[in-house]
Amino acid sequence: ELVPVLLSGGSGTRLWPLSRETHPKQFQPLVGEKSLLQATWERLEGLDGLAAPIVVANEEHRFMVAEQLRQAGAVPSAIVLEPVGRNTAPAIAVAALQARAGGADPLLLVLPSDHVIADQAGFRAAVQAACAAAGEGALVTFGIVPTGPETGYGYIKAGSAGSNVQKVEAFVEKPDKATAETYVASGDYFWNSGMFLFRASSYLAELEKHAPAMVAAASESLEKAKRDVDFLRLDRDAFEACPADSIDYAVMEKTDKAAVLPISVGWNDVGSWKALWEIADQDADGNAHHGDVIALDCRNTLAWGGRRLVSLLGLDDVIVVDTDDALLVAARDQVQEVKAIVARLKDEG
Ligand code: GDD
Ligand code: MG
Repeated sequence: ELVPVLLSGGSGTRLWPLSRETHPKQFQPLVGEKSLLQATWERLEGLDGLAAPIVVANEEHRFMVAEQLRQAGAVPSAIVLEPVGRNTAPAIAVAALQARAGGADPLLLVLPSDHVIADQAGFRAAVQAACAAAGEGALVTFGIVPTGPETGYGYIKAGSAGSNVQKVEAFVEKPDKATAETYVASGDYFWNSGMFLFRASSYLAELEKHAPAMVAAASESLEKAKRDVDFLRLDRDAFEACPADSIDYAVMEKTDKAAVLPISVGWNDVGSWKALWEIADQDADGNAHHGDVIALDCRNTLAWGGRRLVSLLGLDDVIVVDTDDALLVAARDQVQEVKAIVARLKDEG
């Protein structure tokens, strides 16, 4: 059995002002007509042993999650609601504990709900190819050949060359720019795609080793959870008390059970406006448009409009995003810092 775990709790601040806390990017049709969450489910169709998904989301998004899954034909075994975000390690822990209820120990395919994958059949073949190693206890990651020293990714050093599942020699989450440059130059590192395959028990055992307080808090929040129609509401006090950390820092950097399967499937995490520009249809000068846009004498720009005409003149490497109540104009190579604007807005409350 292969149980997809769809992580849908992020707020996607780097795609501000389109992505908002109340309406984050995973619920939006950024590429194509389906939302990113819906596309995440639909690309699984055809996987051997595919079971009902477990979805973990913030309680504020519960109606959007349920409605979008219904439209996509997904029937989750549980939609687990977090009262607060505690990052991915606890979210996955809760899903793993839920999957283990009744004594089962399925393979979990942990998927961010905000990625784009062009080659869906290739992706499914990779998941299938990783099942044996995961079944034997490995925490399998899917590695992407890096195209530049991006600092928003985890970097994975494979134990040996080759295109099969390999042992991970080192996992470094979000290195600084200089370190990322040396990794990319060495040719020995992959980006972590953020998708994982492992047995529920393998993940829980490693989390117990490296962050036992998280397992305890996740267990308690699930034991005291309340069923509410389709939803499973985690206990607020227990989950609030859970330490916050990502699976990357809490487990993948520390475990000796990590493995990596290199993939080449047209993966993009739509993690920034630059990433969205990369996958958008571009004209011969590298300009991409959304909505009603005129760009003259421009190169490598992304103009995202939709509500009124957006016009650009004589600009290179610029991103413009126009929404009802906010306008972003940014240098293309600085878009990782959009989250700093969001942080500033929060401070000003
Ligand atoms: N349920 C739940 N609860 N989901 C969450 C939470 C949470 O508290 N926080 C984040 N998520 C979801 C996000 O919606 C996203 O789908 C996924 O988990 C990953 O979180 P991100 O916040 O997008 O992580 P990241 O992009 O900084 O880094 C991860 O992904 C990179 C590739 O895109 C890491 O795994 C990196 O190593 C990796 O390179
Ligand atoms: Mg991300």
